[in-house]
Amino acid sequence: MTAVVLPSADMLVGSLDESDRARLRDLIARCTSLRMANQTIHRLTGIREFLADPLALTSLSQLLAAPIPAPNASIDRQWGDFQTPLPLATQICHYLAELGTVPTVIIEPTCGVGNFIYAALDTFPSARLIYGIEIQDQYQWALKLHLLAGALKGKPITTEIELHQDDIFMHRFPARVLRAENILILGNPPWVTNAELGGLESRNLPVKRNIKGLSGLDALTGKSNFDISEYILLHLLELFSERRGRLALLCKNAVVRNLVKALPQRKFKIGAIRSLEIDARQYFGAAVEASLLVIDLGTDTKESTCRVSTLDRPDQIRRTFGWLGPSFVADVKQYHAVSQFDGKFPWPWRHGVKHDCAAVMELEEQQGCWTNGTGEKVTVEPEWVYWLLKSSDLRTFEVTHARKKIILTQRKLGEDPTSLQMVAPRLWQYLLQHAQELDRRKSSIYRQQPRFALFGIGDYAFKLYKVAIAGLYKEPCFSLVAPIGQRPVMLDDTCYYLGFDDYADALFTASLLNSQSVKDLLQSIVFTDAKRPYTKDVLMRIALDRIAEQTPYAILQQIWSAAEFKPAVSMTESDYLAYQYRMTDRQAGGGGQQMRLTL
Ligand SMILES: C[S@@+](CC[C@H](N)C(=O)[O-])C[C@H]1O[C@@H](n2cnc3c(N)ncnc32)[C@H](O)[C@@H]1O
Repeated sequence: MTAVVLPSADMLVGSLDESDRARLRDLIARCTSLRMANQTIHRLTGIREFLADPLALTSLSQLLAAPIPAPNASIDRQWGDFQTPLPLATQICHYLAELGTVPTVIIEPTCGVGNFIYAALDTFPSARLIYGIEIQDQYQWALKLHLLAGALKGKPITTEIELHQDDIFMHRFPARVLRAENILILGNPPWVTNAELGGLESRNLPVKRNIKGLSGLDALTGKSNFDISEYILLHLLELFSERRGRLALLCKNAVVRNLVKALPQRKFKIGAIRSLEIDARQYFGAAVEASLLVIDLGTDTKESTCRVSTLDRPDQIRRTFGWLGPSFVADVKQYHAVSQFDGKFPWPWRHGVKHDCAAVMELEEQQGCWTNGTGEKVTVEPEWVYWLLKSSDLRTFEVTHARKKIILTQRKLGEDPTSLQMVAPRLWQYLLQHAQELDRRKSSIYRQQPRFALFGIGDYAFKLYKVAIAGLYKEPCFSLVAPIGQRPVMLDDTCYYLGFDDYADALFTASLLNSQSVKDLLQSIVFTDAKRPYTKDVLMRIALDRIAEQTPYAILQQIWSAAEFKPAVSMTESDYLAYQYRMTDRQAGGGGQQMRLTL
């Protein structure tokens, strides 16, 4: 019988050296029954129920007798698998000990190969029980065998260890763990988002439900893309936030931020929230901003701010972010100085055109011809092709030329592109030729829309003058975008913009948005480590009317000269006063000249 019930044999025994394997072989050979094997191993390591059944015992002795296979270093993306190096796990445990953490029960919710468990065993002699969960059984086995090999080399473990090969989303914690006091939840949950899992067609997701209560389009697009660890964190807090203890989990900064943002809607009894930044590139080779999130559990007061420092200098607080009354801010101290400018933007910010098919819909000039992403020459009706700007084009005060063009299939959301058959037959043919790529667009927002539909399109997209900002850059720069060849310029969906009929309105708006007051406000409310620091929500908070009131014309002139910019039409102070008047009149609901500012 080849009874390989233990998975991934190479991972399992390949990581042990020959002398460890020999010691393990002897031990297993001496055990004449499953019960005897489990009791012997428990005495040595504290691990409960090391082998689940007789088949596991037979399988293990066969594996230990087999030749050492080559190690399997492959990483399966769906598990968000970034194992914490032992030195980092140890540094974290030492920091927690210095904070006065004396845990009785330690829970590692996704323990992997167990480096946090090794570090905790060394740092917290007070622990009576270490309770670990891990979905990949080869990791569970690697951990168990290493602990056993260590014990056989003369490092017996007295702490009880309970390891479960299970899915944290399904795992049922026993009452003795759920009710324990002095708990420490310690670890590093998976680094993967639900969107990435969607792409991998993985089922490593919590039960399908709209976890954050998002509505409509938000639930279908960006806002509903969350890290799996965010859900694990919320799940653990739901289970354990009333117990006395501490939680210390490594996670992306976005996860920490989202947790703090969600606190007013939650009833967690937690406090002393700290985010200690780590160098994720150094430890995990990952280009993300990550931190150790530390939270005190079972506190009497509820807190909704978070202090930020680094793991190397935990006491040097760099800033505090979170809720200040009704406002969510990135830097509490800085915000106090500019809170008067936190309000409501007078007009809706729009995002650029979304098509999710750049290879077909975006064109570039090559040797005098406009070609698509595959190099194919495109000769569709020019009235459906517009100049296009991307985030990287918006780095100056004024933008007057573009590198790319975009094909539009609609002028309004919901308009049926089949009418192109008649009005633009060459474009219709082109779309049919590329229907496969367009029909394959994954985002579910296209499902309810006519074939070849776009988003971010409407009358506003065809305004001649625009003020635009790149959503993805850390430094804010609001660009005045003038028409090219009398035609409005489009923005892509990484940008936000305002559209104007009138040059002066666009110019003064761009100038005010580049003022120091706006920069200071944005610095205090924007999280520059986010993937998309400038969002519609953030931009809608700029109280432009109050900024205009406090910004004299001379400041605008200074902004222009710093940008080496000269208005295309000569401007005077009275033009600026008229603009201010139009803005306030419009906000007050006046009829006056509001039409010029209608967006
Ligand atoms: C970022 S790694 C960290 C492992 C370990 N906590 C450490 O710090 O080294 C995430 C771990 O979560 C495990 N994992 C992923 N999805 C899981 C799930 N649904 N339930 C339990 N464990 C899971 C992965 O297999 C992986 O070992």
